[in-house]
Amino acid sequence: MLALFALGVAFYLSGCQAGGEFTGREYMPDMAHSQAYEIYTPTRTLVVDEGDTIAWFNSKTSARKPVAGTIPRGYMPYHFDNTNEGYEAAGATLFNPLNKYQGDTVEYDRILTNAKTNFETHCAICHGNKGKGDGEIVKNGAYPAAPPSYFSATLMELPEGKMFHSIHHGKNLMGAYGPQLTKTERWEIVSYIKDMQADKISKDDKMSKEQALGLITNGMRYKQGGAAAAAPAPAAVVDNAAANTTDTVANNNLTAAADEAAKADAAASKSALDDLATQPLKAGQSIVLKNVYFETGSFRLKQESYKELNKLVSILKNNPKSKVEISGHTDNTGNASANLNLSQNRAKSVYNYVISQGIPKAALQFKGYGQTKPVASNNTDEGRAQNRRTEFRVLE
Ligand code: HEC
Repeated sequence: MLALFALGVAFYLSGCQAGGEFTGREYMPDMAHSQAYEIYTPTRTLVVDEGDTIAWFNSKTSARKPVAGTIPRGYMPYHFDNTNEGYEAAGATLFNPLNKYQGDTVEYDRILTNAKTNFETHCAICHGNKGKGDGEIVKNGAYPAAPPSYFSATLMELPEGKMFHSIHHGKNLMGAYGPQLTKTERWEIVSYIKDMQADKISKDDKMSKEQALGLITNGMRYKQGGAAAAAPAPAAVVDNAAANTTDTVANNNLTAAADEAAKADAAASKSALDDLATQPLKAGQSIVLKNVYFETGSFRLKQESYKELNKLVSILKNNPKSKVEISGHTDNTGNASANLNLSQNRAKSVYNYVISQGIPKAALQFKGYGQTKPVASNNTDEGRAQNRRTEFRVLE
């Protein structure tokens, strides 16, 4: 028994003779020792090529480059080229997906806090902590071009899509941040800049921060001193002398040429809304909003739409108990689901604008119907023009 025990102990202790490169005798090594290569040491790697032949690959580093065309997980390609056309297209069609959190104080604060950290890390050195274009290396003369202040007339009006584009690709002397910041981080910074701008608008034009944000996000553009122009029209402007209630053809055309034509007769044409300026709204009433224009293929409202929308705003102010639905409609050209999407987004743009003018959210709903509710034949140009429209319907 004693001899057996001694033998057992000797066998057990033989495992202890480790040292240097030798690990000692191991009974159950499992995965205790990594087989990994040192990344930057020269190595011979086994390569299996397409013909199934096996070769040794002599490389200077054991880390290999990924296969051409490999993208990181979660990476989304960016479709707009670093050209003027790409810049314009981004401005017209890209909208900040984080705007939907504007009402959610907790989430929105988180976005702004995150953005502040990234902004102060990457951007403040040139743009300054407050975005005035007076960053450290501008002040000390190390950087040749002072960036414009975010509060300059041009940048106050810069659509969020263009802002995102410039951050992604860089602009002239400013480098690209696409490789440094994730897509979400870039949008967060756009929110952060728009938030600083909204602070200024709300101070300058004495409106609520929420209203100011509404004016410069979701495709809205702010014109210096233009907030006044976009404010509800005074009653005197609403002309109800010669309104024609049967003339309800909207011109939210999809083609630029038609838009131009529509703009030309906009001044002359009367709006169905003019009639409602003096009458109370009745449930079930449905009215086409004339003279509401969007940029081609986009849901960005054109400046000349505000006059009509301001009439709607003052009507809603006169009827504080009413609830209305704003609906978007298209003709049957193109893809039905794209049309549905576009109509939904256009209805939402109108909704956002109306809310930005101080109408409570509870009074409004919006919905896109795409091509499902034509009011005229889709076989003629004129019919299709009638079908492309924004309407509002009195719910109660
Ligand atoms: C090295 C200095 C520098 C840094 C760092 C820098 N910018 Fe700029 N930025 C500029 C200059 C210069 C311009 C003016 C470019 C022009 O219009 O020629 C500019 C312009 C802009 C514009 C306006 C773009 C447009 O389309 O007109 C935005 C928005 C902007 N920067 C955001 C940022 C953000 C966000 C960061 C950080 C992620 C950043 N910048 C970092 C120098 C810088």
